Amino acid sequence: METKRFSGKSIVVTGGAGDIGLATAVRFGNEGADVALIDVKDMATAKAKVQQTGATVRTYTCDVTEYAQVERTVATIALDFGGIDMLFNNAGIQGQFKQLHTYPVDDFAQVININLIGAFHVLRAVAIHMVAQKSGTIVNTASMAGVDGPVNMVAYGASKFAMIGMTQTAAKDLAPYGIRVNSISPGFMGPGFMWDRQVDLQAAVGSQYYDTDRNVVAKQMIGAVPLRRYGSIEEIPGTVAYLMSGDSSYVTGVNIKLSGGI
Ligand SMILES: NC(=O)c1ccc[n+]([C@@H]2O[C@H](COP(=O)([O-])OP(=O)(O)OC[C@H]3O[C@@H](n4cnc5c(N)ncnc54)[C@H](O)[C@@H]3O)[C@@H](O)[C@H]2O)c1
Repeated sequence: METKRFSGKSIVVTGGAGDIGLATAVRFGNEGADVALIDVKDMATAKAKVQQTGATVRTYTCDVTEYAQVERTVATIALDFGGIDMLFNNAGIQGQFKQLHTYPVDDFAQVININLIGAFHVLRAVAIHMVAQKSGTIVNTASMAGVDGPVNMVAYGASKFAMIGMTQTAAKDLAPYGIRVNSISPGFMGPGFMWDRQVDLQAAVGSQYYDTDRNVVAKQMIGAVPLRRYGSIEEIPGTVAYLMSGDSSYVTGVNIKLSGGI
């Protein structure tokens, strides 16, 4: 039988019920990996889709903002799968779209809590196991909003800039244990909920950067992207797979931009 690239390896995917998490989980299932999905949402549909690849898949309901829960869940996964080889640290939310002086203080805290502190919790808990086994690869999901400050998204931008910084430190701290840590920065992805939400909410803000007509806003956003189109969710998993594979064995602390303009 043909051996697939990730045969015999396990991957943990947070935000596994969401668009990018699920598409990536399916890709890794197709490439032979055993998959552990983490999310706060129901994962029955996601599980069924990953199972169609023939992969072993288990789901774990866990809120990444609660460290005790994360540590317990990750320890269970390590037992269930006999170790953790790869982590796709990907759960996140967009937050509200408001100019800075009107940005809701509680929403800022929530976005940072999920996108940054939650991501740190998962990174820390998984690193404990990878350090002990002296191997592992990690990909964090940042965003183009972490490369160039996005308008009307102060919390999201701050969380994703921090994610890229945390990736660089993690790469250095974990290198002695044979662990590589990189991040990806998707830009405008579509079609779908996140794309529609961004276009509608940017139009609703009425700032000098975007029109108030959503169709014009969509054109303005695409106009800022070098490839003059939004990316499809299906264009993300291949980059994650590259960063998890031996093809990137000397790549760590790197952020890969997936087109973008923000
Ligand atoms: N879609 C885009 O345009 C885009 C662009 C750049 C970056 N991103 C990033 O990609 C990642 C995935 O986004 P997506 O587009 O798949 O969105 P999505 O909303 O489809 O998926 C995100 C998932 O994270 C889960 N989640 C949220 N809070 C959680 C928590 N506290 N604990 C556990 N799980 C939690 C959600 O339930 C959801 O299933 C996010 O980090 C997002 O910021 C997305």
